[in-house]
Amino acid sequence: MESNELRRIFFQFFKEKDHAIIPSASVMPENDPTVLFTTAGMHPLQPYLKGEPHPEGKRLVNCQKCIRTGDINEVGDPSHLTFFEMLGNWSLGDYFKNEAITMSWEFLTDPRWLGLDPEKISVTVFAGDEEVPRDEESANAWREVGVPDERIYYLPREDNWWGLETGPCGPDTEIFYDTGRKPCSKTCKPGCHCGKFFEIWNDVFMSYNKKADGTYEKLKQHNVDTGMGIERTVAVLNGMQSVFEIDSYALLVKRVMKLARIKEPLNPEQERAVRIIVDHIRAATFILGDDKHLPPSNLGQGYVLRRLIRRIIRQGNLLKIKQQFLPELAQRVIYFHKDAYPELERNKDFIMNNLTQEEQKFSKALRRGLRKFNQIFKEKKIITGEDAFLLFTSFGFPLEITTELAAEQGISIDMEVFRQEFEHHRDLSRKATAGTFQSGLADHSARTTRLHTATHLLQQALREVLGDHIEQKGSNITPERTRFDFSHPKNLSTKELKKVEDIVNQKIKEALPVSKEIMSPQEAKEQGALGFFEDRYKGKVSVYSVGSFSKEICTGPHVKNTREVGQFKIQKQKNIGAGVIRIRATVD
Ligand code: ALA
Repeated sequence: MESNELRRIFFQFFKEKDHAIIPSASVMPENDPTVLFTTAGMHPLQPYLKGEPHPEGKRLVNCQKCIRTGDINEVGDPSHLTFFEMLGNWSLGDYFKNEAITMSWEFLTDPRWLGLDPEKISVTVFAGDEEVPRDEESANAWREVGVPDERIYYLPREDNWWGLETGPCGPDTEIFYDTGRKPCSKTCKPGCHCGKFFEIWNDVFMSYNKKADGTYEKLKQHNVDTGMGIERTVAVLNGMQSVFEIDSYALLVKRVMKLARIKEPLNPEQERAVRIIVDHIRAATFILGDDKHLPPSNLGQGYVLRRLIRRIIRQGNLLKIKQQFLPELAQRVIYFHKDAYPELERNKDFIMNNLTQEEQKFSKALRRGLRKFNQIFKEKKIITGEDAFLLFTSFGFPLEITTELAAEQGISIDMEVFRQEFEHHRDLSRKATAGTFQSGLADHSARTTRLHTATHLLQQALREVLGDHIEQKGSNITPERTRFDFSHPKNLSTKELKKVEDIVNQKIKEALPVSKEIMSPQEAKEQGALGFFEDRYKGKVSVYSVGSFSKEICTGPHVKNTREVGQFKIQKQKNIGAGVIRIRATVD
């Protein structure tokens, strides 16, 4: 089974069950200040799980590009990844547990689809607690399709409850495949991490909403949200020992080994280095390949990207790769994925230019920094938090690299000192995540909505003042401000800024109604709506209009009338390079 084939048949199966295929959303979430990257297929669907009608209906299926960096230090073992593709199907207030489980079972075991041996499949269901009862409905649905009681396990909330920090959530039922390996102990069962039972699919039954204060409320509707990781499932289907043996990695692994002049069998250090390189290059290529054109930087998402790239270079250095190698690996990632994700091809120059520049810059710094590290270590036999901070500011060493170098010498670094130094350093301490986690409170989300509508007004005002070449290159909204990146060759003059601000405030004063319509991308294009046009899916999109002033493809939410937006103010502009200007603005 190949990755692209698994994606194809998953879509086909759910299409036959009346699901609409929707495109993967961006890896960088729109208007969600609580996280840096999209971590699951349900992430961009939250408004619809809460009850807003989705333009494509109540049954959806897709393959979402996901980034999870929480386990970045685990990458190198057989299964951890920072980038992966997640297949999922959704019921938005349509079918529930019974039908979802029956469909999962059919897809996994019917010879027309995956045809897995039913005997090797076991499942877990939510055991219940004071708040939510034991999930007998799911257990019964499993019995109904033929899973015997001894392969149905009841597990507590920490295993069988799924949701993000806040928002739609609920009990889940997880599906495991027995790899046939020896159990690690007498108590080894699905949910154990020894590698005998491989989780391949998670069906979440979302009827709850977790609020910012940690309490739960019932959602208006019962939803189903499922997730199947392509990489792990392909590995299981092919009886492989690690995800790095599957097709999308194999072509990269082969090339890295050739560049490093190493051969099978690899020693553990080499194996780890190769895995980190091939995982991180996929993540970096997909982030750079996003239509939002995010370059590496020292802040938020840009800094995660920079860390990924710099870790690849450091691992390449460990493998003694002498030449520039990131662009050619990225080329292979693009080649492998371009049919499923045409944006990679579209943004190829951006990917190549940024990787080339970052590699040139950091390769030199790495050599000098390594000399400095060795010199400090030789003199003092320790690396202090201050040293780590110096390596960070002067040589661009992300903390993980210094920590890793220290660990190789058998020493650890005082993280607390590093953290203090880091936080004193004003520009660098403003990670995009800091201070934004408290959002989600009612007034915060209302403010985010106001800023969101203000951002549409801003884009149109920019087009009126500067011309139709203005195109959105990125947008990020926190409860405090909106940040809008757009194509323009130079900073605006004071007069131009003032004019843009005045137009936005004028439109707010005019109390224009904001309305939403559902249409095909083609119709949206014909009506002159702004937005990213996906030409490979024939589905429907929502288009928001602000009076007759602005029209954009967008998932919302927005205020009902512009007078709710309040006073709009541009706080800052910055030329962030590559023909992109960034504006920060607030509403009062
Ligand atoms: N959202 C669920 C997950 O990520 C399906 O596991």
